[in-house]
Amino acid sequence: MVLQGYPDPGEGLRLHLNENTGGCSPQVLEAIRGVRPTDVSTYPQYREAVHATARHFGVDPDWVLLTNGLDEGILMAAIGHIAKPRIHDAETIIPLPAFDPYPNSTAAVGATAVRVPPDRNYAFPTQAVIDAITPRTRMIFLNTPNNPTGQLIPIPDLIRISEAAPAAVVLIDEAYIEFGGTTFLPQLPRFPNVLVGRTFSKAYGLAGMRVGVVIGQPQALDPVRSVTLPFNINGVALAAMHAALQDTDFLPRYAAQVRESRERLYAAFDRLGYEYWPSAANYVMVRVGETAPIIEALAAKKIHVRDRSKDPTTPGCIRMTAGMVEHTVAAIEALEDVTRLRRFAASARPGSGQAR
Ligand SMILES: Cc1ncc(COP(=O)(O)O)c(C=O)c1O
Repeated sequence: MVLQGYPDPGEGLRLHLNENTGGCSPQVLEAIRGVRPTDVSTYPQYREAVHATARHFGVDPDWVLLTNGLDEGILMAAIGHIAKPRIHDAETIIPLPAFDPYPNSTAAVGATAVRVPPDRNYAFPTQAVIDAITPRTRMIFLNTPNNPTGQLIPIPDLIRISEAAPAAVVLIDEAYIEFGGTTFLPQLPRFPNVLVGRTFSKAYGLAGMRVGVVIGQPQALDPVRSVTLPFNINGVALAAMHAALQDTDFLPRYAAQVRESRERLYAAFDRLGYEYWPSAANYVMVRVGETAPIIEALAAKKIHVRDRSKDPTTPGCIRMTAGMVEHTVAAIEALEDVTRLRRFAASARPGSGQAR
């Protein structure tokens, strides 16, 4: 059967999609239970949700477009700025490693992706991105913290790139910014060519509801709005989002769990001698070498992590979600078991010089 979405890893601890491992706020579930029959039988109204979101982010409501997950916002940005105006020979700039929807949306609108490799240790290649800007550049996808490395792009670098590309749209994807780093939003009034992408999927635990936000001045946002379908987010998701915004204790509590989980993962990787990259997000990328046997052995213990080894910029790497501490503890225990067993088997293999 042809699959829709990502393959389902089955039962167990999902640490492969950077989801909130603790689930959403109980207040969100209460709001969903409170949905009335007419909320379902009528088309959704967005005004209140847009205003609440604008207040939350401290921006003008006209600068806010709610999308069906930030995924939709990324595709609509490409359609609004490249496909609809029928720009031929358009290029997008995509620093690597990159979230798949950037190249996919680029291809969907018939543009060419100009990929920029990372600097050493995944430092952000700011000058190389600026050097890649041409008169054909229509969009630049910047992701901070980066998925999968967790590295931040410093605000001065975001500013330099945005200033260097006044004729292009710079989409700053801040899907994980609640877990570390500084948002670009206070800079936005100076940059009519910048869009900031946010999501309720990660920090607020609403991935199943599909609510994202694209924020920008009308020059950058209106073309995106003009191609977005009028009822793109369902009414239940709106109710969930409202409740998530109202539970102001939820995010700091979860962010503290994520911080502690990251520290525990670093300590475990140090013990195991794995190279890793300290992350500002709710996941950590770690180099384990040959990934498949480790991923399979973890899956057998019902721990699901993400294989990053097929991307040439992240060879030998897996990405693990850092969520609730109890989940991280279980994942670390499994990884330690799996690693020890593999190392023991390797050392016992004839010819290893250590077999007795
Ligand atoms: C970098 C990045 N941007 C955007 C998204 C999309 O989030 P959503 O469509 O769930 O809002 C994700 C999800 O994994 C992501 O990793």
